[in-house]
Amino acid sequence: MENGGPVTHEAETVSTITIKGILSLMMQIIDEENGKRVITLGMGDPTAYSCFLTPSVVREAAVDALQSNKFNGYAPTVGLLQTRRAIAEYLNRDLPYKLSPDDVFITSGCTQAIDVSLAMLARPGANILLPRPGFPIYELSAAFRRLQVRYFDLLPEKGWEVDLDSVEALADQNTVAMVIINPGNPCGNVYSYKHLKKIAETANKLKILVIADEVYGHLTFGPNPFVPMGVFGSTVPVLTLGSLSKRWIVPGWRLGWFVTSDPNGTFKEPKIIERIKNYFDILGGPATFIQAAVPRIIEHTDDEIFFKETNNTLKQTSDICWEMMKEIPGITCPHKPEGSMAVMVKLDLSNLKDISDDIDFCFRLAKEESVIVLPGTAVGLKNWLRIIFASDPSSLKEGLGRIKSFCQRHVKMSQIY
Ligand SMILES: *Cc1c(COP(=O)(O)O)cnc(C)c1O
Ligand SMILES: *[C@@H]1O[C@H](CO)[C@@H](O)[C@H](O)[C@H]1NC(C)=O
Ligand SMILES: *[C@@H]1O[C@H](CO)[C@@H](O)[C@H](O)[C@H]1NC(C)=O
Repeated sequence: MENGGPVTHEAETVSTITIKGILSLMMQIIDEENGKRVITLGMGDPTAYSCFLTPSVVREAAVDALQSNKFNGYAPTVGLLQTRRAIAEYLNRDLPYKLSPDDVFITSGCTQAIDVSLAMLARPGANILLPRPGFPIYELSAAFRRLQVRYFDLLPEKGWEVDLDSVEALADQNTVAMVIINPGNPCGNVYSYKHLKKIAETANKLKILVIADEVYGHLTFGPNPFVPMGVFGSTVPVLTLGSLSKRWIVPGWRLGWFVTSDPNGTFKEPKIIERIKNYFDILGGPATFIQAAVPRIIEHTDDEIFFKETNNTLKQTSDICWEMMKEIPGITCPHKPEGSMAVMVKLDLSNLKDISDDIDFCFRLAKEESVIVLPGTAVGLKNWLRIIFASDPSSLKEGLGRIKSFCQRHVKMSQIY
């Protein structure tokens, strides 16, 4: 503080609703008396269901690394070299150029990779463009960094594509980056090559970076294959964020990556590399033995039927979700989910007689039916709901069945026939 100037308290003004916060409030009002078992379609952690268990090769890789006694010490702060190499090679399978291990930094889950990106880009007066609906961690992190956020819309009628006109309208000379989440949470969209190319061209024109959150990379089961944003790295510098959490179903292992997908070497300036490395010196990444397990985990990823089974299960549960939604009065789903584990559905409040908004809907659903879903407000879209379909098919069917009974009780009479 210079000359005893005013103390600032900006971090205290952070008031974003967190997903975990709102879900735990809903859990508290569950009525134990109604005798219904709690079904949660609210949280993106499928490890609760036995149909989403990580395969034995993945667990054995971690056990062997631990048992070897070679990985009880500190790893380099940017991550073990063999881990960085394995992730570079994994990403290189889908890229027209080659990443080197130096492009890869190991983080504590994708969450920390998000925070690293925003910390690296923040400077006084800067702003960042985020998708709406989106993932609240970006907004929270930006608030701590005093990075101003501006929202561009995702368009439900266009498969949740980015509204590129609004991106152009929002950007100015202080805009540092735009964020895309593909495959999408909360919308379940998978962007086409063509759309990603347009995003790259727009970002290039606006001279901003693209932060590509690909934590659901390869978890696709619709017509569009997964195309990493890094494919367009020579059109626009890309920061690729990912983790083992979703594809390998080990969110508690906290292994993620922050990758400069940038064949032109924009991030290769010594000063920038120095800054990234200095920042990693204060982080402390995931456990060394988990890092050490990564090369084997990735090596076994293709030959495992597990990955096909995860895909098939998600395809099956997303289909159940899509079909059952059509039968529920007062709710519409504009776009069939093609990837990730989540879908957004719209509440038609004019057809529901006594529900004031999405938060009211979710709390009453929790109380009356012991089913937990996330109000859209928590991801930036009021009067929508986010439903996670990564659960076992029978729980999902039962949960959606109860949502249907709830809506039938609350729909205006004239809407039933
Ligand atoms: C789950 C999730 C993350 C966080 O991933 P972790 O590896 O668990 O930290 C980041 N972004 C999106 C879009 C997610 O759904
Ligand atoms: C990267 O290099 C290629 C080839 O030299 C060039 O065409 C392209 O415009 C460059 N891209 C950026 C973002 O600088
Ligand atoms: C799921 O299937 C799609 C298309 O069939 C494939 O591209 C993708 O890699 C698969 N995902 C996993 C996790 O294996």
